[in-house]
Amino acid sequence: MTIPSVETTIRLISTGATSGSTCSPDLVTPPWEFDGGTPGYGPGSSMGDVIPAGSPSQGALPERYRTASAEELSARIVEAKRALGDSVVILGHFYQRDEVLRHADFVGDSYQLAQATQSRPDAAAIVFCGVHFMAETADLLSGADQAVILPNLAAGCSMADMADIDSVTECWEQLEELYGTDADASGRVPVIPVTYMNSSAALKGFCGEHGGIVCTSSNAQTVLKWAFERGQRVLFFPDQHLGRNTAKAMGVPLDAMPMWNPNKPLGGNTADELDAAQVVLWHGFCSVHRRFTVAQIEAARSEHPGVQVIVHPECPMAVVDAADSAGSTDFIAKAIAAAPAGTTFAIGTEINLVNRLAAQHPEHEIFCLDPVICPCSTMYRIHAGYLAWVLEALVGGGEQPAQVLNQITVSADVADHARVALERMLSARPPLPVGA
Ligand code: 13P
Ligand code: SF4
Repeated sequence: MTIPSVETTIRLISTGATSGSTCSPDLVTPPWEFDGGTPGYGPGSSMGDVIPAGSPSQGALPERYRTASAEELSARIVEAKRALGDSVVILGHFYQRDEVLRHADFVGDSYQLAQATQSRPDAAAIVFCGVHFMAETADLLSGADQAVILPNLAAGCSMADMADIDSVTECWEQLEELYGTDADASGRVPVIPVTYMNSSAALKGFCGEHGGIVCTSSNAQTVLKWAFERGQRVLFFPDQHLGRNTAKAMGVPLDAMPMWNPNKPLGGNTADELDAAQVVLWHGFCSVHRRFTVAQIEAARSEHPGVQVIVHPECPMAVVDAADSAGSTDFIAKAIAAAPAGTTFAIGTEINLVNRLAAQHPEHEIFCLDPVICPCSTMYRIHAGYLAWVLEALVGGGEQPAQVLNQITVSADVADHARVALERMLSARPPLPVGA
């Protein structure tokens, strides 16, 4: 039995040709209908989040891409790639829709894609099918003469947007006032900033400048260990759940992990609570992973005795605790590949990856913990139409000169510090899964 892509399934549900439900009727509307005008996250998991003022929006996609069929777009992408040869490399995150991901030269989680960025120094253009912070990271790690292209500028990340440089700087100043800046007898400074990869380059720069580091979901334990060797405490942003789940798995008690709300003095904590803190957690979260619940796990266990439940560490702590294991997207993919045939898996992560794993592993039964189809709204902004558009622009032809569209460039004032924080992460010991 072939499993249709998420894009196809959404279309089939909207016409009544298949059963099922989606979190928004707008999911069937092509992403270019949301381009231009006021920026917004678009339909899907993040639609309830407030997008910050000044977020990029994507201009109009030319009509020839909006009206082309899926087959035509696919053929145009293949032809443009052939014409461009080694001068272009396409990177794709696991959460991209299949219609885009099938054209990627490298597919992976955010850590692997950061590494892949450095694997093709010969390519003049790196087309990043992912979200904005991933494209920024690619720009930081790639050569100065390589252009990084994000096919749809509206592909941001609502979690990354939950921490901005001004609020984090303000938090840091309050913590410095409270803790001072002197190292203890073993040389550990009062606090080390750790930013999740899912953050702006400005925050990575902040970490680089203040003795801190970047982590991804595949190396968060390694990175926290690195930070505790150098600091008495950690300020972890923007994802409270990854921070809490990782630190808890390392033995940090919950009452030593206060949460920082930037709208309140001392983040809503007392000085004593902050004094006793080992990890100060920013109050951000992922709207995709927040949808998973303990009730869904209980339902899966009662309907599928023996089911293996694996969730992403961006899920709330109670969900991670109730699951059999937790880990990055790559961890999930590898755990499924390594299981004996006939295993049933309930997976708590983005639907495009779960659906693809189910299609790739007919020897197992694999389903998403959340029965409602609700993709990451920003990953879903990249449609094959945009990929064809940026690739054909690189080829040029006729009257049209070759053109780099939607280039992502990190400003020089943050790039050097951000690279320091990323290099610290890349040279930390090999990744360890969270809670596995
Ligand atoms: P990974 O690091 O597991 O690829 O996760 C990226 C992401 O955005 C998860 O929401
Ligand atoms: Fe951001 Fe969540 Fe989407 Fe990942 S899944 S890109 S954290 S909104």
